Amino acid sequence: MSLPRKSVSRALGSSPARLRCRLYPYTHLGTYLGRRKCNGNKRGFSSAPSPAASVYSKWALLLGAGLAVGTTSAFYFKRRETLQGTRTDFVPSKEDYQKVYNEIARLLAEMDEYDDGSYGPVVLRLSWHASGTYDKATGTGGSNGATMRFAPESNHGANLGLVNTRDFLEPAQKMFPWISYSDLWTLAGVTAVQELGGPTVPWRPGRQDAESTACTPDGRLPNAAKGATHLRDIFYRMGFDDREIVALSGAHALGRAHIDRTGYEGPWDFSPTVFTNEFFRLLVEEEWLVRDWDGPLQYTDKTTRTLMMLPTDMALVEDEQFRPHVERYAKDSDAFFQEFAVAYIKLLELGVPFKGEGSDRWVFERSE
Ligand code: HEM
Repeated sequence: MSLPRKSVSRALGSSPARLRCRLYPYTHLGTYLGRRKCNGNKRGFSSAPSPAASVYSKWALLLGAGLAVGTTSAFYFKRRETLQGTRTDFVPSKEDYQKVYNEIARLLAEMDEYDDGSYGPVVLRLSWHASGTYDKATGTGGSNGATMRFAPESNHGANLGLVNTRDFLEPAQKMFPWISYSDLWTLAGVTAVQELGGPTVPWRPGRQDAESTACTPDGRLPNAAKGATHLRDIFYRMGFDDREIVALSGAHALGRAHIDRTGYEGPWDFSPTVFTNEFFRLLVEEEWLVRDWDGPLQYTDKTTRTLMMLPTDMALVEDEQFRPHVERYAKDSDAFFQEFAVAYIKLLELGVPFKGEGSDRWVFERSE
């Protein structure tokens, strides 16, 4: 499989936010030189030098200025050459992206202090929230852009708590500065699914980061307090059908809700760091009661009263069109894995102007 060379160069070539970061040393140097010049002037005024010393210092100043300009220009052009080299000549290969995958997998394994021992679930959630803003009617939102880096999108209620997840991935971005955030976050989602025992999810690069002006309006992600009609409104807007809505919701086998983020609380099953079809099995087999508490409406399992379901999760068994898929996935783990992978690939590619048809996707090896 060959790399979509054009799309990658395009991604690297038009990443204004990153370019600004890379240009920072020049700005910094300029400020530094400016400050030096300013200090020199101050010294001149305060010590009233003799005329001879003044002529001498004028020449010295000119010479110094010439040297400074020369050195700065040399530095600038050398840096620019390097930058241009980075931007246009370096075309990452599948092996380069495998290295990014490996680094994310290493971070997931080593930084095990999060919740149930893995950042994996919340990394998957980051990739979904970055992508699930897509609106097919206007072509806005989607994984392209990684606009959640900026306010107001970073402050949208649904994205509360995801700042830690974005920070968690920052070392990988520092290690591989050529990757766009939008590629990094989606590749991280794929890594999380695979490393937590989920299906293999082929992935391709080519997303471009955008500016804050591309932030999507609040309200594009689903509201857990609502029902089936709302789920359809949100997911049909992205271009998904009922089967895909159910398949994607199976990601709730992972992780847990946090009272300080969304007001909801608890995990959906007993293995929140392993990708399984347990979410569906429990939805069908367990009896779910309205939780008696001061928080928002959520459900708890009758047997242990330690698990939870959101109103939108319950809508999947209550709705006539959704329910057959829930029952099928509850019985057939392979069908769930296969259909989740296909729907998740589609989710991660929403709004991305790829050139190819998808035959250029890569499968990354899992860590041992
Ligand atoms: C169907 C509509 C959906 C609704 C209403 C919804 C809502 C929520 C809510 C309220 C939480 C709890 C967040 C917290 O308090 O920290 C959550 C967590 C989570 N969601 Fe969803 N979600 C939906 C779909 C999805 C999809 C499509 C995916 C992935 C493909 C996903 C993956 C996750 C994961 C992995 C977590 C656990 C995060 C953690 O452990 O920190 N969700 N979701």
